[in-house]
Amino acid sequence: MGIKRISRKNSQGFNLIPSHVVDQHESKDSNHSGDACICYTLPIDGAPKLILTQRMDNYAFLGDFKICNRYDIDNTGLVCNWPSEDVLACFCLSHKDIFRSKRVLELGAGYGLAGFVIAAATEASEVVISDGNPQVVDYIQHNIKANYGSFGETIVKSLMLHWNQEETVNISNTFDIIVASDCTFFKGIPQRPCSNCQMVVDEIRIL
Ligand SMILES: C[S@@+](CC[C@H](N)C(=O)[O-])C[C@H]1O[C@@H](n2cnc3c(N)ncnc32)[C@H](O)[C@@H]1O
Repeated sequence: MGIKRISRKNSQGFNLIPSHVVDQHESKDSNHSGDACICYTLPIDGAPKLILTQRMDNYAFLGDFKICNRYDIDNTGLVCNWPSEDVLACFCLSHKDIFRSKRVLELGAGYGLAGFVIAAATEASEVVISDGNPQVVDYIQHNIKANYGSFGETIVKSLMLHWNQEETVNISNTFDIIVASDCTFFKGIPQRPCSNCQMVVDEIRIL
């Protein structure tokens, strides 16, 4: 089996959204022994805590790479919540108003901290947290269910969305705001992720 792209985290993040591990054991409803539950405390008044199940640092399984090869995707979404996701989440928290009544899509979300923060702390009407790696989408879906009570009126969904595939779901006119972090790091990933998706957006702002 050829393993094309392996990633690991080599430094600590910025911890802009303070977090601590609450459970490093296999949780009752988790399928993976290498999982940990991380509690993120949003640094604003009245915001709920988010408990996200993620892989513990340095855990990777052979099966991950079989899936990566089968779906033509990398494993980076499983490695960690990357520092730029922290920055994006923090930016979204400090610009909460732009999300009011908007339909929001996060691309290449990994564990989707920014999407979860938008869902929990803004008045977005809908937040869809997407990724092209099916294992990552399983974590997103699990975490949506686990934090169900934290989203108020906001509808929150996961979506398997691989932006290089022609048959990608048609999401034109579906979203008002699209956010993404750390999605153009590998050679070969298009500078404009999702250029194959049928999307119409009124305005693109690169932050
Ligand atoms: C470096 S990670 C960043 C994850 C997250 N945004 C963060 O910063 O923590 C890149 C993410 O993009 C996803 N990805 C890579 N290529 C993709 C593609 N062609 N379509 C959809 N997602 C893709 C990976 O599965 C991974 O979750």
